[in-house]
Amino acid sequence: MNMLELIEKKRDGGVISKEEIQFFVDGVTDKSIPDYQVSAFLMAVLWRGMNDEETTDLTLAMANSGSICDLSDIPGVKVDKHSTGGVGDKVTPILLPIVASFGIPCVKLSGRGLGFTGGTIDKFESIEGFCTSVDPSEFKSKIENCGLLLGGQTADLAPCDKYLYALRDVTGTVPSIPLIASSIMSKKIAGGSDAIVLDITCGSGAFMKDIDSARELARRMISIGKLAGKPVSCVMSSMEQPLGIMVGNILEMQEAVEVLRGRGREDVKSVVLTMAAEMLKMTEVGKGKSEDELKELCNQKLQNGEAFEKFGELVLSQGGMLQSDGSPVYVDRPFEVMTVHAKKDGYISKCDALAVGEASCLLGAGRMEKDDVIDMGAGIRLYKKIGDKVSRGDELYTMYTGTKAPVGEDRIDEALYRMEDAYEISDSAVSAPKEILDVISFK
Ligand code: URA
Repeated sequence: MNMLELIEKKRDGGVISKEEIQFFVDGVTDKSIPDYQVSAFLMAVLWRGMNDEETTDLTLAMANSGSICDLSDIPGVKVDKHSTGGVGDKVTPILLPIVASFGIPCVKLSGRGLGFTGGTIDKFESIEGFCTSVDPSEFKSKIENCGLLLGGQTADLAPCDKYLYALRDVTGTVPSIPLIASSIMSKKIAGGSDAIVLDITCGSGAFMKDIDSARELARRMISIGKLAGKPVSCVMSSMEQPLGIMVGNILEMQEAVEVLRGRGREDVKSVVLTMAAEMLKMTEVGKGKSEDELKELCNQKLQNGEAFEKFGELVLSQGGMLQSDGSPVYVDRPFEVMTVHAKKDGYISKCDALAVGEASCLLGAGRMEKDDVIDMGAGIRLYKKIGDKVSRGDELYTMYTGTKAPVGEDRIDEALYRMEDAYEISDSAVSAPKEILDVISFK
């Protein structure tokens, strides 16, 4: 077998056999296939797609490219969650403490930012001392310690995906349904959880731009889950505008802490509570309870401080630092670069998630290249979102950099230019979009 033939076969719309997929995955994992051929193959998959069988073969080969975590020592149903990525997506730091505060063990293996979307690992690393590289041998003790663990993808967990993920990020090959489905599901299978809840974001700031593609991605992941014997539930959430009002690593953690303290915005809570209810439905806690009852129980965890307490336990368990009021100590602080005001009266009709995500990346909150170092303090705070009434002169948004190594004036100008496309103001009233578009599951 040789890689050139495989690239040409996919380029011409052929179907790749199980053996050929195994050859590809082995060659990526042991680095015997050069990056340029891997990239060409990924681009051919992006254009030509993969059928269900190819996608499942790729997923299983990637899951087995490293070791599979054995969590059977940890009692109870272990539920994992994953998001296909979004702008301002601070769901994980709120959701996991809620679920863990019911005594449900949560082992969450997260990724770094991909393209214009933020990554949970980067967000947690904005907390001073927080260590995301947890060896699988420590999983059990960490779970016994606080019922919750948040780790990065270890070198040994789906290493093929780790390599492909970084390469896709810089070769324009992220938004492919089979590549996203296999990337996520390989990690979830290798991570060893019993059940999986997926947040499939949909809209301008997501990889799935419309609801039909989001449903197709859900269908693929559910079918892989069936084959692997793992119940999968998919929540489809809107990413036309950023989730919440903060975009950027420290800024998003600050907003997450607000919600954990029982405050925070309803749009963030709506996605968190829907995901939490889906996770609980897969456990004993959810048995015999309606969706609304489960959401109410989860909301109580935010209001009574138990979720915030659990978040603090997680931070301490992984070496992070807390202030005396329980909120995290961050590695830097957002420094205000400029605030932009509305030029006319009206109603916000557009607050484009992609433009905000790209502007935030330009300010330093994300990676433009594979090895870029993130500026944890950088990002954007939004004062107005779709449907809000606005008067000329009202604050629309503030742009921030960190204090330590801020980007130069040219990047700030570019970010401002990008943000000018983000907002539109209409003369007539506009209704706020729904956060949850659909939920599909297989149990
Ligand atoms: N998240 C992942 O883990 N992989 C993708 O391909 C996209 C989002």
